[in-house]
Amino acid sequence: MNFTGKVALITGGSHGIGRAYANALLNIGMKVCICDIHIDAAKDFIEHLPENLRNNAIYQKCDVSSFTDLKEAFDKTIATFGTFDVLINNAGMFGETKYQDMININFIAVVRGTLLAFEHMNKLTGGKGGYVINTSSEAGLDPFPIAPVYSATKHAVVGLTKSLGSDYHYEKTGITVNVICPGPVETAFFKAFPSSCVYPEEAWKLQASMKPVKPEDVAKALLKLLEDNKNGAVLRIDTDGLRYV
Ligand SMILES: NC(=O)c1ccc[n+]([C@@H]2O[C@H](COP(=O)([O-])OP(=O)(O)OC[C@H]3O[C@@H](n4cnc5c(N)ncnc54)[C@H](O)[C@@H]3O)[C@@H](O)[C@H]2O)c1
Repeated sequence: MNFTGKVALITGGSHGIGRAYANALLNIGMKVCICDIHIDAAKDFIEHLPENLRNNAIYQKCDVSSFTDLKEAFDKTIATFGTFDVLINNAGMFGETKYQDMININFIAVVRGTLLAFEHMNKLTGGKGGYVINTSSEAGLDPFPIAPVYSATKHAVVGLTKSLGSDYHYEKTGITVNVICPGPVETAFFKAFPSSCVYPEEAWKLQASMKPVKPEDVAKALLKLLEDNKNGAVLRIDTDGLRYV
């Protein structure tokens, strides 16, 4: 499938996995709106893009836990690029003691973003169909005892994906919904997570034994999902490589 000219909104796109997603999509000719609570890095990323790609990227300050911010991000994307095709729900946080924030950012915001994307892309209401891709985690597939609430939020994202990513919805809306479940990934998030676990000392030991992949490896998973034209798929990525589960 040809994605040239298609428009994506990426939450949490300033750093880490989200930035690698943005880079990968720009390099296949797509246009991106990078939404993030911290936009300095997004500005810098865009300024340093090759000239031929720079006009294909914009940024928008957006805290995904605010419905108003999310809506403004959609509005800016459509006002700038004239259309909207792909939502990537990627922003996430880690913090067992801040569990309400974590539920809001890791799950409620994914629901809200997805519903906004459906509003714009749903064939039943005049849209042309499209794609929603979520970033969950291997902690959304397997138990993760050192961070039970984080694990629950990521399981919830997988559950939402599987139910919305069904023929039942697709036949009405023309929208596919898929999820990427990375194992450890070399980002700021990974470097800091043990300090926010229930038992940090044990978590630091566990982290030292983990073998993270690079954000660019996760971006390959995103391109594979788009190319494979899946719906309701769960794509796992870690040092054992990419596989549907
Ligand atoms: N790094 C890992 O080991 C790992 C593994 C599995 C899944 N994940 C998931 O991948 C996603 C991205 O994580 P990462 O490793 O790239 O982290 P990261 O910290 O490198 O980047 C996360 C980005 O999200 C942004 N963000 C945080 N809260 C936000 C909010 N409320 N609104 C908007 N933006 C916000 C941050 O500013 C940052 O730019 C997360 O959903 C995370 O749960 C990460």
